[in-house]
Amino acid sequence: MRTIKVFDTTLRDGEQMPGVSLPVNYKIQIAKQLDKLGVDVIEAGFPSASKGEFEAVKEIANLGLNAKICGLARVVKKDIDQAIKADVDIVHVFIPTSKIQVEHTIKKTPDEIVQLSVDAVEYVKSHGVECMFSAMDATRTEMDFLKRIYKAVEEAGVDIINVPDTVGIATPFRFYDMIKKLKEHLNVPIDVHCHNDFGLATANTYAAVLAGADEVQVTVNGLGERAGNAPLEEVVALLYAEGFKTNIRMEYLVETSRLVERLTGVKMPPNKPIVGENAFSHESGIHAHGVLKDARTFEPGIITPEMVGHKRRIVVGKHAGRHQIKKILEDAGYVVDDEKLSIIVQKVKELGDKGKKVTDLDLFAIAESVLGEV
Ligand code: KIV
Ligand code: ZN
Repeated sequence: MRTIKVFDTTLRDGEQMPGVSLPVNYKIQIAKQLDKLGVDVIEAGFPSASKGEFEAVKEIANLGLNAKICGLARVVKKDIDQAIKADVDIVHVFIPTSKIQVEHTIKKTPDEIVQLSVDAVEYVKSHGVECMFSAMDATRTEMDFLKRIYKAVEEAGVDIINVPDTVGIATPFRFYDMIKKLKEHLNVPIDVHCHNDFGLATANTYAAVLAGADEVQVTVNGLGERAGNAPLEEVVALLYAEGFKTNIRMEYLVETSRLVERLTGVKMPPNKPIVGENAFSHESGIHAHGVLKDARTFEPGIITPEMVGHKRRIVVGKHAGRHQIKKILEDAGYVVDDEKLSIIVQKVKELGDKGKKVTDLDLFAIAESVLGEV
């Protein structure tokens, strides 16, 4: 069973999500929670971005957490110095490598890009600090150039390379192929960073792992630039279901998701996989009937709600059936015979047909009126 390392970038790429800005004390709370969750690396921020960012990274780096702390830097001495001054364990240097980004941003020749990257890696390593290197926009970069630049930084002593799908255009088969080729070409560990522009971040991350990636970059709740990054909770649960090991304590997944939701103010949709309110909820009569007998009938089974710190819910609604309504009422202490149950079920459906979301409280009110208790 292969162990896949989890590199969390909620506090860096996650915070780059429009509308999210975390004060230092919130960043510290999240870092402590990520450490409790068991992530291997916390990318705490981009130390040269601002004074506050530098202070936050430095404070997190000095908390004495088990996770390694990483800081982002462009391939320039000024950025690298700031990251090292912030006491990080890993400096993550990056440079654009795709034609479109090179042309409109750094405007350097391929030789210059390789040289800047090698110099940056050697500079980080000369300080006795670990180094990760990213070829930004790797999935839109020519393969020959990618192989060349990654080989050059490997020879310069980089500890791990990251392959970012910066604009989320990878697809699982293509990304698998790309990681496989890089794996055959390189000897350093490979990490991947997938964005979710086409909703494929989890699938692409998983494809990369199948192709041999050693580490995955994720964010809690999938926060991040534009449509976000690969969500930690989805990637970790999927890896578990497919027989890979991580160091994540999955029972804290929901707790972590809720904390990040509260501190960032970014609400999760109810149908969010693994951690959403409805991830283990059942309304339709056929499903609820099956689940009441054996939850595996209408759930993946390999992941139970308890394993991720969630709860299974059988809910009412116009699709509800007799069994689940009876079970909800019995759990709440109501005793109903078959005849009364039929009337209650009928009234629930009538309410649902009017477009009303039927809650447990609505059900109890109906039951009490039918049972003559009000
Ligand atoms: O998406 C991206 O390319 C990044 C890099 C800084 C790794 O976030
Ligand atoms: Zn990114």
